[in-house]
Amino acid sequence: MTHPADPASVSSGIAAVDAYLANGFATVPGMSSRFAATITAGLMRIQTGLGVTGPIAEIGTFEGRFFIALAKALQPGEVALGMDIFDWPNPAVIDRFEANCVKHGVAAGVRETWKCDSRTVTPAELLERTGGRRLRLFHVDGEHSRASLAKDLALATAVLADDGVIILDDMLHPGYPTLMVTVHEYLTQHPEMVVLCIIDRETIVGATKFVLCRAGWFKRYETELLAVFEQCVWPLGADFEPHWCLVLSLDTRLAAIT
Ligand SMILES: C[S@@+](CC[C@H](N)C(=O)[O-])C[C@H]1O[C@@H](n2cnc3c(N)ncnc32)[C@H](O)[C@@H]1O
Repeated sequence: MTHPADPASVSSGIAAVDAYLANGFATVPGMSSRFAATITAGLMRIQTGLGVTGPIAEIGTFEGRFFIALAKALQPGEVALGMDIFDWPNPAVIDRFEANCVKHGVAAGVRETWKCDSRTVTPAELLERTGGRRLRLFHVDGEHSRASLAKDLALATAVLADDGVIILDDMLHPGYPTLMVTVHEYLTQHPEMVVLCIIDRETIVGATKFVLCRAGWFKRYETELLAVFEQCVWPLGADFEPHWCLVLSLDTRLAAIT
C-alpha cells in the first residue's frame, strides 16, 4: 500500500454513496474530504446494521458536497436537514445547493433545506422540523469560532438520539487552533460524551473531523469501525487523557526508528 493511500481505495459499502463519491463529489464545490465522506457514510451503514435510525442534520451545508453523500446513506423514510445562513459567498448559494441535490438524486422528500442562523435555533425548533424524531447523526460545519461551536455543540447534543453521533469539522486545523479548547470544555462538561474516532485530514481544506458518541455506545461503534475500516486504522490511536479512540487515516505509517 502506498502512503498516503488513494481515497478511492476506501469505500462506504453503500453503492449509491460510492457512485456519488467516485463521479459527483469532486464536482460539487465544498470543503470536506472524500475520505471523511466515505468514513461517515460507512458509519451510517454501521448504524443501520445496528438498528440505529432517524433523521440527520448538517449545519453549514454550503453547496451540498458532504450533505449529498450523507443523504444518499439514509434509509427509506429518513430525512436530511440542511441548515445554512445561505448568504456566503452570495445569496444564490441556496439555489446551487438545491440544484446540486437534484442533480445527484437527493429528492425533495429526503432533504429539508432550512435557511437559518444555527446560533439562534432552539432544540424545540429543530425537532419540530423532524416531526419530533431525534437525530442519528449531526454534522457541525458552520461558523468556526469558539462561541459558535459551543452553541452548535449544545444544539446537536440536545437533539441527538441516545445512539446518535456528532461529527465536528475542521478539528486540529492550523487556521482554527482554538476550536480544540471548546471541544475540551465540552467534553469536560459532558462526561456522557466521548470521541469515538478521529477522521484524519486529506488536505488542509479537507481537514480532520472528530466523531463523538455517548460513552455507552463507544465499544459497539468502535468494534464495527475496526472491522469495516481495518486498513485505515493508525496503530497508535488518539489519547484524550484518559480516553483513547481510533484514528482513521489514509496514511497509517509510524515514524521509522533505527
Ligand atoms: C466550510 S462551509 C461548509 C462546507 C460543507 N459542509 C462541505 O463539506 O462542503 C461553512 C458553511 O457554514 C455556513 N455558516 C456559517 N455560519 C453559520 C451559522 N451561524 N448558521 C448556519 N450556517 C452558517 C456558511 O454559510 C458556509 O456555507
